[in-house]
Amino acid sequence: MLELKHVHKSYALGGSSLFRKPMVKVADDICLTLEQGTCLGLVGESGSGKSTLGKMILGLEKPDAGEIWFEGSNMLALSKSERMRMRRQIQTVFQDCYSSLNPRWPAYESIREPLANFEKLGAGEEKRAVQELLVAVGLQPEDMTKYPHQFSGGQLQRISIARAIALKPKLVVLDEAVSSLDVLIQHQILQLLAELKRQFKLSYLFISHDLMAVRSISDQVAVMSSGRIVETVSAKEPLSSMKHPVSRQLLASILPTHPRERRVSSPAAFSAV
Ligand SMILES: Nc1ncnc2c1ncn2[C@@H]1O[C@H](COP(=O)(O)OP(=O)(O)OP(=O)(O)O)[C@@H](O)[C@H]1O
Ligand SMILES: [Mg+2]
Repeated sequence: MLELKHVHKSYALGGSSLFRKPMVKVADDICLTLEQGTCLGLVGESGSGKSTLGKMILGLEKPDAGEIWFEGSNMLALSKSERMRMRRQIQTVFQDCYSSLNPRWPAYESIREPLANFEKLGAGEEKRAVQELLVAVGLQPEDMTKYPHQFSGGQLQRISIARAIALKPKLVVLDEAVSSLDVLIQHQILQLLAELKRQFKLSYLFISHDLMAVRSISDQVAVMSSGRIVETVSAKEPLSSMKHPVSRQLLASILPTHPRERRVSSPAAFSAV
């Protein structure tokens, strides 16, 4: 469904040089494949280029080189109108639901906006669609009149998800979508995402620095470091199958749940997980 072929992207670093600013590579020959109906997890340390990769897939950033194929089309070679048509198939949920939802809009407006932009529904149909979406994400139809400040963080993220799936996209890029939530709510949202994936036949790119959250929802896990994919493993494989030093560092940062076991800090300690 989605294939990235040798994607490169660099940003100019700020600096005093008048002539040539130093560049930082945030995508360095990225090759990735995401099969339909599956979830690809993208994990890596802060600044490794995960969000930039997500933005390139969403068309919010342009690669310097390489190809992004989605449903058989090279996204970078499409005309503007073809790109718009394709764009509705790829939606996103960001980490910060407080700034991604308009505080002056009730939930109804936030969820309705993509429908109003892309589909010409009558007022009654639109209202029914919004109510169905609210129910699909575990909220009540009556919640459509509430404003963002009247929801909890977890409920707001459910509204962001309802908005993202309103157009029945094929792919959803979830960038740190559960990272700001406490562990219990994280678990509930991950369960909801898994259920919606089945119900609406979605595919996900799930970006996070949290390896365990990534593994719990993904089929494949790609590890990113300094703009490169350093390792891709099946999420069904035990943690010990992650061999790259960067993956081992990510593993070492996970604390075992029992305090007595937390004394062990060496990556080797995870070979038994
Ligand atoms: N628009 C931009 N202009 C210049 N540099 C940028 C821009 N966007 C990102 N960067 C730089 O690119 C690098 C990768 O950023 P990115 O946001 O993709 O990382 P990330 O892996 O998502 O990190 P995090 O886990 O903290 O969200 C960082 O060094 C960042 O400062
Ligand atoms: Mg990021």
